[in-house]
Amino acid sequence: MRLAIIGTGYVGLVTAACFAELGHDVVGVDSDAAKIETLRQGRVPFYEPGLEGLVTSNLSEGRLRFTTAIAEATADSEILFICVGTPPLPNGDADLSAVETVMREIASAMDGYRLIVEKSTVPVQTARWLSELAQQYIRPGVAFDLASNPEFLSEGTAVRDFLKPDRVVLGCNSDRAAGLLVQLYAPLNAPLLVTDINSAELIKHASNAFLATKISFINSVATICERTGADIEKVAKGIGLDRRIGPAFLQAGIGYGGICFPKDVASFIQLAAKVDVDFGILKAVAEVNTFQRQHVVDLVREALGGSLAGQTVGVLGLAFKPNTDDIREAPSLTVIAELLAAGATVRAYDPVAMPHTKGIFPGITYADDLYAAVTGVDALVLVTEWEAFRHPDWLRIKQLMRRPSIIDGRNLWEPSKLLHLGFEYRGIGRGTHHPAPAPVRV
Ligand SMILES: NC(=O)c1ccc[n+]([C@@H]2O[C@H](COP(=O)([O-])OP(=O)(O)OC[C@H]3O[C@@H](n4cnc5c(N)ncnc54)[C@H](O)[C@@H]3O)[C@@H](O)[C@H]2O)c1
Repeated sequence: MRLAIIGTGYVGLVTAACFAELGHDVVGVDSDAAKIETLRQGRVPFYEPGLEGLVTSNLSEGRLRFTTAIAEATADSEILFICVGTPPLPNGDADLSAVETVMREIASAMDGYRLIVEKSTVPVQTARWLSELAQQYIRPGVAFDLASNPEFLSEGTAVRDFLKPDRVVLGCNSDRAAGLLVQLYAPLNAPLLVTDINSAELIKHASNAFLATKISFINSVATICERTGADIEKVAKGIGLDRRIGPAFLQAGIGYGGICFPKDVASFIQLAAKVDVDFGILKAVAEVNTFQRQHVVDLVREALGGSLAGQTVGVLGLAFKPNTDDIREAPSLTVIAELLAAGATVRAYDPVAMPHTKGIFPGITYADDLYAAVTGVDALVLVTEWEAFRHPDWLRIKQLMRRPSIIDGRNLWEPSKLLHLGFEYRGIGRGTHHPAPAPVRV
């Protein structure tokens, strides 16, 4: 099939490369000319394991190309996927302006039937609005279908997630659209769920909202653990072994970040309000997540005797999660800003995300590796649980730190081992002995 993928970011580029890998003729489109130039040279402008190899091989085999021209891509393609960003507006609503621009350009360029697919995460009923918008620009007599095919990939495992999804959701209002999308996705051998468009759009928001809820739920239980001497790791295991609950997304820590969960939770709350539903659970989820970041900073302050002023803090991990260089809504940004505001000096290290953070925090020290990051620090806070941080040389770290104080914002390390080695250890909900933090709504 001839496909156009509009927006070549984390979702669009993975979609384009994977469909090309499956044998389709794919054009990737982006308004960012510099990005398109980089992609034409076979280089991926962000870190995503396995993606660059797919891009280069499919470029050289002629199944994948890149352009900035939506009109050209529309002329050449049967199915067009909209994969542009939908960032949050200040009130929490999704900013659909990029989706709107793309829809206008596609509609104006269409000279015959096209299937236009929303892959960007959008609020329910967006397709209805886009369809009305398209009618204003489309030439008389030209037919089209709109469909919703929300994307569930996770950065860091995006290629695998795309090629081996738990399910593919296809929101379609016509047999023609459903037929095309079922044919396109059939080679993945994944469960295909064909629904109406509104339901497909809602499935995406509800999925992310539910995952965020699991995270905030376990983090609230972790706070109770801290105040009662229970161990959240054991509690989470005990909960997760129940097949009705499952172990995923029950890791207590600094909370969620990234481009999806914070904005999708906010957007879902806004959407609910527009249809007179007070989504109180989700409001609490967002509140707990804010508390959690602050709590980690409070643990650092407590470890340093109540004041951060004049102290040096090592920060391990800047990406919002491991195996990506994405720092959008990353907890590290909040932690570093708070540490600096309180008068601390920061030494940071991340295996791949440092170039993105340098523009935001030009004044902190960026270390060459983990050991350089801990050198001379009064406390070390783990923000992102990169696998490379799991088994460091603790004796070397102890020698390098000015004070051996660890704040484990992801519960990556074994407290008994660190205590035995002479470190002070503070994790999240692990029965450590520190004063109760301020009350939080749970
Ligand atoms: N990143 C994820 O993990 C993930 C997962 C599932 C769904 N999503 C959703 O997918 C969508 C895209 O997310 P992303 O992380 O890939 O975003 P991104 O910011 O990485 O990529 C968006 C791309 O769209 C391009 N773009 C913007 N306006 C354009 C226009 N008018 N014409 C052509 N290109 C344009 C940008 O230049 C950019 O390259 C969002 O709605 C997001 O919520 C993201």
